[in-house]
Amino acid sequence: MKKILITGCLGQIGSELTTRLREDYGTDNVIATDIRKIDSPVCDEGIFEILDVTDKQKMQDLAEKYEVDTLIHLAALLSAVAEAKPQLAWDLNMGGLMNALEVARELNLKFFTPSSIGCFGPGTPSENTPQDTLQRPTTMYGVTKVAGELLCDYYHAKFGVDTRGVRFPGLISYKTLPGGGTTDYAVDIYYEALKKGHYDSFIEKGTFMDMMYMPDAIDAIVQLLEADPSRLVHRNAFNITAMSVDPEQVAASIQKVMPDFTLGYDVDPVRQKIADSWPDSLDATCAKNEWGFAPKYDLDRMTQDMLEKLSKKMQNTSMAN
Ligand code: SER
Repeated sequence: MKKILITGCLGQIGSELTTRLREDYGTDNVIATDIRKIDSPVCDEGIFEILDVTDKQKMQDLAEKYEVDTLIHLAALLSAVAEAKPQLAWDLNMGGLMNALEVARELNLKFFTPSSIGCFGPGTPSENTPQDTLQRPTTMYGVTKVAGELLCDYYHAKFGVDTRGVRFPGLISYKTLPGGGTTDYAVDIYYEALKKGHYDSFIEKGTFMDMMYMPDAIDAIVQLLEADPSRLVHRNAFNITAMSVDPEQVAASIQKVMPDFTLGYDVDPVRQKIADSWPDSLDATCAKNEWGFAPKYDLDRMTQDMLEKLSKKMQNTSMAN
């Protein structure tokens, strides 16, 4: 991969991935796109173009203009927003993906798009969920993720497009907030710990979901895109995870750094229902064996880094205001 176009670059993943790829592959070799422009280093410190992913012609024009060889397609609605706007979620998540796959097919691009733990449903084995297993999600987000996985497999088998993907767990980061997911409590809890010393979780005690710290997620994307294709038995998409946790465990980890932190509950039935339909813990053996996936952050290491970086960020923001 030498020249890369990214869609949805201002989202939670894109904003960190863009910076990392500019460092690794050269600023002029990363074309960051999103539907809107904001005041952000992602837009200001390299090539940035406005792109609505439902506009296939513009996506293709940009890919041709910059002569990219890789397309990373991130633009999509997350689970809770998709449940509130299912028709829009279908149009955006599927329409955008189809356009991106078509551009990849026509221009012979390497292709990455994320799937999610949301691709599983209540009938899936919930502990140590295998790579290949039942996928009958009960959310619109999950429906688009399963359909997306199948579509990527199809484009690989039928047209030889070099499609690659992972099933991301909840991603925790201090730079950009996630935009309306079910696992967002595990991000919010760190912000509220620093702001108020207390957090009311919208996800119930004892609800386990897989999580990962963003640096591991970014490493996973780069590693998978650079992996020798002959080693990849699976295409879309690999189970990956760094930890399986519930709100109590995240709180206990925060209390090791901030002993006075307290956790309460104010459960949101919509997001709780989504969480209950997802696995407790994924088996990431195939990702380890086929391309060497190896996360570096466990819960406590993530918590220490997250609290340190987030408190610096909050100090800088309050000084700037
Ligand atoms: N973090 C996502 C969500 O909660 C799951 O992929 O929607």
